[in-house]
Amino acid sequence: MEAIRAEHLSKHYGEGDTLVRALTDASLVLHTGSVVALLGPSGAGKSTLVKTLGLVTLPDSGRIYMDGALVLDERGLHASVQELRRSFFGFVFQRPNLVPFLSAQKNVELACEIGGTPKRRARELLEWLDVGHRASAMPDTLSGGEQQRVAIARALANKPRLLLADEPTAALDKERGRAVMELFRRVAREQGAAVLVVTHDHRTLDVFDELHEMEDGRLGPAHAA
Ligand SMILES: Nc1ncnc2c1ncn2[C@@H]1O[C@H](COP(=O)(O)OP(=O)(O)O)[C@@H](O)[C@H]1O
Ligand SMILES: [Mg+2]
Repeated sequence: MEAIRAEHLSKHYGEGDTLVRALTDASLVLHTGSVVALLGPSGAGKSTLVKTLGLVTLPDSGRIYMDGALVLDERGLHASVQELRRSFFGFVFQRPNLVPFLSAQKNVELACEIGGTPKRRARELLEWLDVGHRASAMPDTLSGGEQQRVAIARALANKPRLLLADEPTAALDKERGRAVMELFRRVAREQGAAVLVVTHDHRTLDVFDELHEMEDGRLGPAHAA
């Protein structure tokens, strides 16, 4: 099933001498149950694509369909971004950015509340992500890998149809990074989501169903990794 279909997305920043074409005619389809990597050098436009798919920034042109419904075209938005944020997307970033004065479980419970899912889902997700034993710990007492698992649990609180992860393992060592990448695969298979992961780590590409690569704002199939 198509979770999201993006057609001919373009996005620029600045103007004149400072004009940057961050995204040029990018098209991409992400299917429920599949985990897809987005590769490419720094400045290629990966974060811009992720933010555009997540409706954090709007493209200059192009169309986006979610679950088959037209959400965005040249005439603008056809759905409530707030409602889609609440129910369609999950985001994971390089830094976990947990609320520092709330326990791991409370961090996820807060997201359940916002996402309209029962609070008990928080504990279930932490168990499912193998950090249930750290549920009552405060963020600053967790390892980087544990914090990122809690951040993934938080991103899954609202049962997202699309999980967008922008360099989620960049701050982790090799082994912990790999473990987190394998979790994204499990998320796709077992949580009914499509998962897009921006990564520089060529050692974990075997985890993914598809590889795409960006260069100078253009998106294409990845070259042999
Ligand atoms: N808010 C912004 N204002 C101006 N330029 C930006 C902004 N965000 C990104 N850019 C530029 O757009 C290009 C693509 O950036 P980005 O999408 O962050 O690439 P990547 O994630 O692949 O490193 C870069 O040249 C970057 O400097
Ligand atoms: Mg980036």
